[in-house]
Amino acid sequence: MNKLPPVPPVLPESMSLVESPPANIDALVAPLMAARAESPIVVPTRAADLAARIPRDLPADGAPLDELLAGLEDLLLAHSRRNTHPGFFGYIASGGLPIDALANAMVGALNQNVVGYPSSPAAATIERAVLRWLANLVGYDEGADGVFLGGGSSANLTAMAAAASHQFGPDYRARGIVSAAGGKRPVVLCSKATHFSVQRAAALLGIGSDQVVAVETDAQFRLRPDALESALEREECVVCVVGSAGTTNTGAIDPLKEMAAICARHDTWFHIDAAYGGGALLSPELAPLFDGIAAADSVTMDLHKWFYNPIDSSVVLFRDPKYARSVFYETSDYVAFPPDGPPEQHMFFHLGPDLSRRFRALPAYIAFAHYGRDRLGRNVLHNVECARYLADLARYHDDLELVTAPELSIVTFRYRPKRGDVSMTDARVDDINREIRARVESEADYLLSPTTVNGRPVLRACIINHATRASHIEGLVSRVREIGVELSG
Ligand SMILES: Cc1ncc(COP(=O)(O)O)c(C=O)c1O
Repeated sequence: MNKLPPVPPVLPESMSLVESPPANIDALVAPLMAARAESPIVVPTRAADLAARIPRDLPADGAPLDELLAGLEDLLLAHSRRNTHPGFFGYIASGGLPIDALANAMVGALNQNVVGYPSSPAAATIERAVLRWLANLVGYDEGADGVFLGGGSSANLTAMAAAASHQFGPDYRARGIVSAAGGKRPVVLCSKATHFSVQRAAALLGIGSDQVVAVETDAQFRLRPDALESALEREECVVCVVGSAGTTNTGAIDPLKEMAAICARHDTWFHIDAAYGGGALLSPELAPLFDGIAAADSVTMDLHKWFYNPIDSSVVLFRDPKYARSVFYETSDYVAFPPDGPPEQHMFFHLGPDLSRRFRALPAYIAFAHYGRDRLGRNVLHNVECARYLADLARYHDDLELVTAPELSIVTFRYRPKRGDVSMTDARVDDINREIRARVESEADYLLSPTTVNGRPVLRACIINHATRASHIEGLVSRVREIGVELSG
């Protein structure tokens, strides 16, 4: 006779919220939000000191929540770099929006798994709507589709995988690149100023980072169409051409329209990395700079850059999603949905690498629906005006020199002490500029990230924070000049 199996014992405690209510979210978040614009931007830290404040081993017994959160708040407030500060001009980092904390709290509270419509009907509907809004900004028609991803790096990788499927045909996925390329050398063509995520994607796709061939640029770091034409004639197996709509270092915009026409003639996939510049499409004054973008086969846009959205939020859009689908579509005993099913069966993992995904589109939806395109676009334009103002100040002051004028919102310039002083060699001026940048960072109110242009250190300001005003630009310029005078004696 069968014996009934024993019932698992009842746990003495539960982790239900009812028994362990979280502390008041407002009270926790308010000081973190308030600190977003507070100086200093950078706090000097030592990794070992911070690590010492975190248990080395996974704690066997939990700590009371109030105690834990109070300690965390202290650590986070005192030792976080404030990318949200209006004087933060380094890298291309999101300045965020006041609704970030609210939107992310909602994402956490819902904990949707946005694999597709069946797992998250409302979230999937919102994500698809935001993707459509963005596709409309690009100028794509109804056939376009896309997916939210964690960043521009993943978006570029995803686009390049679709490009490989376009180049090698639908069985590329099964055969792999070596067999699909049939002994030819697959290459990716882009300018040297293209973001390094393209090299990393080439490595991951088996193309090889060395097979990313640099196409010559003009003096403004824009890819030269004639050089692209020659490269396409020379190379026999081009996986894709990548154009930049805002390079990372100087914000240069490649000649997208000409590149699109050349790629179309060569039947070559044209991907546009608008991870940084994409936000400029929100502004009617700036959108014409991207003329030709609608002819790209795929586009990357980081919402966590110039759309002011919180990290992490990026999209890749496909003019015709069938190539992405031919790489990413998968079916199994446990998840079986047709590639072209009705909206109720839409699966985001058919167009990109992630299966389980958080509800990234919610902060974007709230931001777009609350602020509206015009207001966001005016802020983007204001960032560009601030960048132009900085460039004009660099032209105006005779101890500054403008290195690259902003096509978008990145300016590079240098401190240039009195001409005619023979002790001021180029090497000395380089050192002074390195030192100015480091001094500015060590103080409270501005941050410029280190970089070089044409091999020389420059002061680079990337202005993508909606809270940045002309006064911040003036403050930066004064401080650079004061430190410059001090250093050059
Ligand atoms: C032009 C460009 N593409 C791609 C990326 C990578 O984006 P993410 O950091 O979101 O992966 C960056 C990052 O700055 C970028 O500037």
